[in-house]
Amino acid sequence: MSRSNIVWHKPVVTRAMREQRNGHRAATLWFTGLSGAGKSTISHALEERLFELGCNTFVFDGDNVRHGLCKDLGFSEADRTENIRRIGELAKLANAAGVIAITAFISPFRKDRDMVRESMPEGDFIEVYIQCPLEECEQRDVKGLYRKARAGEIRDFTGISSPYEPPERPEVVIDTSRQTIEESVETLVGYCRARGIIA
Ligand code: ADX
Repeated sequence: MSRSNIVWHKPVVTRAMREQRNGHRAATLWFTGLSGAGKSTISHALEERLFELGCNTFVFDGDNVRHGLCKDLGFSEADRTENIRRIGELAKLANAAGVIAITAFISPFRKDRDMVRESMPEGDFIEVYIQCPLEECEQRDVKGLYRKARAGEIRDFTGISSPYEPPERPEVVIDTSRQTIEESVETLVGYCRARGIIA
């Protein structure tokens, strides 16, 4: 099927109308960081707080999305790139629906994150670096995967046998080896307020 035969249908109910009714802007808070750095924990804690504030939000979480939409993908560089491309598209749809999307994927490659940023309207993509030293992630080893990676039982494991490229100019940096979950959430809520995403 030729793509030129697919015509984008313009909605009658627009994003701006949804945002006005919601009382907040839509945006994508794109978390990136090592496995075990705290992306899922903080993204869900942030969502809980935003929900209490009356916001429409949704967390897209690596482990969950990989069970469904991306279950055909592994952890090669090409598969991770495709994973991130799909999540970027999901986040854009969520934003079009007026939702604040929070994505929690390692997203280790700078070029993939930049590709998503560039594909979004200016200001929608907020890169949140969930920073934590590899040694601490490894010590936490919540899922027991670092041990397996060190034992050679998992190939291409981020931080061990596959690279992680930290963001160069993230909008927000959260250091989970120093900040509590509550402090991290406050930092992010404060950022959303300062940027006029929420009131
Ligand atoms: S990403 O690199 O494509 O962004 P994603 O966030 O979806 O990765 O998935 C990472 C999760 O998959 C990790 O938290 C971990 O639980 C699991 N996992 C399994 N194998 C690997 C691997 N080789 N490298 C990293 N994470 C892995």
